Amino acid sequence: MKGIILAGGGGTRLSPLTKITSKQLLPVYDRPMIFYPLNTLLRAGIKEILIIVSPDHPGDFLKLLGSGKEFGAKFTYEIQDKPAGLAQAFIIGADFIGKDNVTLILGDNIFEDDFSKTIKKFKSGGQVFAKKVSDPERFGVVKFNKNGRAVKIEEKPKKFLSSYAVTGLYVYDSRVVEAAEGLKPSARGELEITDLHNWYLNKGELRVDMVKGEWIDAGTFDSLLKASNWAFKRASLDQARDTRTASKKSA
Ligand code: G1P
Repeated sequence: MKGIILAGGGGTRLSPLTKITSKQLLPVYDRPMIFYPLNTLLRAGIKEILIIVSPDHPGDFLKLLGSGKEFGAKFTYEIQDKPAGLAQAFIIGADFIGKDNVTLILGDNIFEDDFSKTIKKFKSGGQVFAKKVSDPERFGVVKFNKNGRAVKIEEKPKKFLSSYAVTGLYVYDSRVVEAAEGLKPSARGELEITDLHNWYLNKGELRVDMVKGEWIDAGTFDSLLKASNWAFKRASLDQARDTRTASKKSA
């Protein structure tokens, strides 16, 4: 299993913050945003990771993440010249992926869950993760039938489809490269990741699991603040737990 972190894009929704650095390098409480998706991949035992960045600040990523050695991993970098949709990650990453399975995570997606079991047992097809949200129109949305099977996935539906957002973590077999190469740009001019989900869904090879813990797409001011508050609370809880364990040990 290989991993890709997509950290391209202009981050225009976070301007003027993103005039001086990349969205994925902005702080989420005590660390740069990209550390969270990176950690999700590392926790799942993924050691070969391609980091796709915009041409504006590649040096900042290199300075922060380096070769990957410090993280017990190997990092490769590619530039996304123009943001032309999330599915482009698989075209840029074609050589890197080769014949392997691949997990793509968006550089602004923060997950609490540990996905290692699901990722480690993945064999073939596609696997996405959904979460019930109050603002589904911001996301790719999946509709289930009464047996809990995914029947339809639509990108930012204008008409209500369901409350289940498809989160920014995707596991695919290597056929995803040919699927991405065959895509046509959508009405908004992008190669849509949702079209890849549908490519697998139409073959009956898409699995949809639920995200249980917190999930935040930190790409807007409000969600960036929410992410920082969540990370702060979690760090305080961890600290309280560590203090309790330490005092038990010394007693
Ligand atoms: C992207 C995807 C969308 C997905 C979301 C998750 O949207 O297009 O399907 O639900 O990420 O964060 P974007 O945040 O790029 O608008």
